[in-house]
This record gives sequence, structure tokens and C-alpha cells, in this order.
Amino acid sequence: MSRVLLVGAGRHQRRVIQRAHELGLEVVAVDRNADAVGLAEADVAEVVDFSDLGAVVELGRRHGVEGVVTFAAERAVPVVAAVAEELGLPGMGAETAHLMTHKVAQRRRLAEAGVPQPRFAAARDLHEAHAALETVGVPAVLKPADSAGQRGLFRIEGLDDLDRHLHAALAESASGEVIVEGFLDGREVNTLFVIRDGVPSLVTLSDRIRPAGVGFGVALTHLYPSTLFGYGLEQAEETAGSSLRALGMPVGIGYPQLLVGDNDDVDIVEVAGRIPGGQMVDVALHGTGVDLIEVTLRQALGEAVPDELVRPRFSQPLAIFFLTAEPGPLPTGCVKSFGGLERVLSSPGVVQADLFLVEGETIRPVQRDGDRRGYVIAVGDTNLEALERAETAARLVDVEVE
Ligand SMILES: Nc1ncnc2c1ncn2[C@@H]1O[C@H](COP(=O)(O)OP(=O)(O)OP(=O)(O)O)[C@@H](O)[C@H]1O
Ligand SMILES: [Mg+2]
Repeated sequence: MSRVLLVGAGRHQRRVIQRAHELGLEVVAVDRNADAVGLAEADVAEVVDFSDLGAVVELGRRHGVEGVVTFAAERAVPVVAAVAEELGLPGMGAETAHLMTHKVAQRRRLAEAGVPQPRFAAARDLHEAHAALETVGVPAVLKPADSAGQRGLFRIEGLDDLDRHLHAALAESASGEVIVEGFLDGREVNTLFVIRDGVPSLVTLSDRIRPAGVGFGVALTHLYPSTLFGYGLEQAEETAGSSLRALGMPVGIGYPQLLVGDNDDVDIVEVAGRIPGGQMVDVALHGTGVDLIEVTLRQALGEAVPDELVRPRFSQPLAIFFLTAEPGPLPTGCVKSFGGLERVLSSPGVVQADLFLVEGETIRPVQRDGDRRGYVIAVGDTNLEALERAETAARLVDVEVE
């Protein structure tokens, strides 16, 4: 029986363990948190901080793993690539993993390849940040060079904003670096690709609906198929594919995020080299029948993934609606009690839903993806019908706060 090493074993990663078991694989799971729910379901559990590369390599070797994977965890991407390289297993390579996870390195490579993107500049301190904003102009976006989940992400209107937020952005960066880039107006489109032998195949293109204000980066809803059409759609597909080719990803899941302006001009926001979090895996699964987790597991083991596993099998309109405070249906405050998931699940069109609420925790206004406290996935004859159904079902969640 083949063994795979799963780097990170939190709640969201249990799906990988379940799918691996269905495919007849054994899972060695690593997480620094002994209570991580995935550890209990894995065949072998190791409590190790995966940022300790040497320790992960050692246990991978000791357990004779034949592949290394992660799911949704940006921080694990360079680790998976490095461990695979050390153990001589399939992977994207440490150099590519750096391009896929370091926003400055990535933008530099995209610039060399002429892939459309906003102006950008890197900075390590206030002096450099002022110069960066000078180069980029306002409005701008400030982000840690290497982080995810919208941590330390700010819209910048002037030097005051930069002075106020730089520290928080730097604090989220392991390499102590930020990127300042032009703020892009427009509609956001997210794409999922499977890459085989350096060739990206498009699986889905979907709309990411976001709130106005400080939470401007958070996905409130994923809508599939995208409402984009004609030239804009063509441009988005073309630009997304060219970004992955420019970054040289040989194998894996590619997740280019794009912004489409009023004139159908397309710019790259960011390109991830992993299955994204936030239920994106379900856009592919419910929308097209493509199982990105199975693809990832097979690629990690060095299996050739056939077209049948990559080509969309159908196109089912769907909406993934996240439960958040305003503009979502949840109140803000300390959670006293909650319920209603059963009602949501039996609501028309709903195919999957979950609540991540915990009694005693605080629901905050939406600022980053971690502020989403659950989701509802509904299907329909059109994406808008699916959205209406998901929204209707989401209102059946009952949350009492104090
Ligand atoms: N330059 C920009 N202009 C407009 N919106 C932006 C810009 N950069 C980021 N955003 C918004 O913020 C979101 C998150 O940005 P980005 O992916 O760079 O940060 P992240 O912390 O890596 O988040 P994620 O985990 O979603 O990848 C984008 O999907 C987009 O909605
Ligand atoms: Mg990111």
C-alpha cells in the first residue's frame, strides 16, 4: 500500500485523508497541534511543527512515504516542495514553490514574461515603503510578501495609511518584506487549473464576490460559471494560463486570481500553486465533477493523471455562500448559541453546508478569510438561481450573540 505524507492536518485537511483512504492509500499526517482533528484520522500521526524542514524530511524517510501533499495551506507549499526534493519524490521543486508563494518574486517573474499585472514595488522598512508608494501611486494595496488569507492586507490611500499599517503587514511576513501594488478596480475571477508536464488545463473559472471596505479581499461568494463572457472571458482564460506558464509550474494545481476591469482588461492579482482553501475545491467538484484532491494525490505519487480526471465532466451552476457578519447574515459579538444546520441542509438546492462556529468565540466584522464562520453550497439551473437558494438557506442559520 502506498503511503503519502500530509503536511498539516487541521479540520480542512481531513478531506485529503478520507479521499486517500478511499483510494487505498495510507496517510502519515504532520501537525504541530496534537489536537489537530486530522491526526486522529491518519494512519500515522506525528506532532511536529512543519516549519522544521529537517524533522519533516526525517519522519518522511522513516515512514517510507512515496509522496508528499498538502491541502489549502499556503505555508505548507514550500515545505512540501522541499521535502519532496530531499526525498527524491515528485513535486514542483523548491524554486518554483518560492515563485508560487512569495509575492515579490512572483511579480518579478510575471513582469519578465510580460503578464499583465499592477505596478508594484517591494519594501523592508518605512523609508522603502514610502519610495514604493511613490512608484506605485494611490490607491494602492499593501501586503506581506509571503502570507495568505488576507492577513496584513490593506488598501492604502496615502502616506498616513502606509505609516499606520506597515507594521502589521511586516509582522505577517516571515521574510520581513512587504509588497505595495496598484489597487485594481473591477470584478474578480478565480481560475483552477491542473498542470501536467508544464501544461495547464483549465478546470473552472468562477466569480469571487467581495465586500466593499476593509474586507475587500475576502470571498463572500463563489459563483460558477462566471458571469464573464465574450472577449473578457477569453482574456481571463488566456492571462491565467500564461501566468502559470511564466511561473514554470511543472505539475500540480494552479490557482490564478484575476481582476477584470470595465474594458475587459485583465490583471493578475496572485497565482497560488495549491488547491486553494475556502471551498474552492468544491467549485471544481460540484461544478464539473473534477476531483482536485484525487489529482493531487496521484500527482504526488508520480502517477500520470489521465484526461478523464482533468476534463470537466459537466457544468453545474452553483454558488458557495459564506456566512459572515455584514454584509452577510451573521451578527457580530460573542457566540452564545447557534443552530439550524439541519434546516440549511434540507433547503432547496443545497448540496453541502457547514458551520465553523464555536460557543464563546467572537464574530468580527469581515476583514480576512478567517472571519467566515461557515458556508452553504447550492446548485440551480443558473448561477443566479443557485445564489438565491444559497442565500435563502443561509438565513436559516440561527446565531445568538451577547
Ligand atoms: N492589487 C489589488 N487590487 C485590488 N484588489 C486586490 C489587490 N490585491 C489583492 N486584492 C484583493 O485581496 C484578495 C487577496 O489578495 P492576495 O491573494 O494577494 O492576498 P493573500 O493574503 O495571499 O490572500 P489569499 O489567501 O486569498 O490568496 C484578492 O483576491 C483580491 O480580492
Ligand atoms: Mg495568496
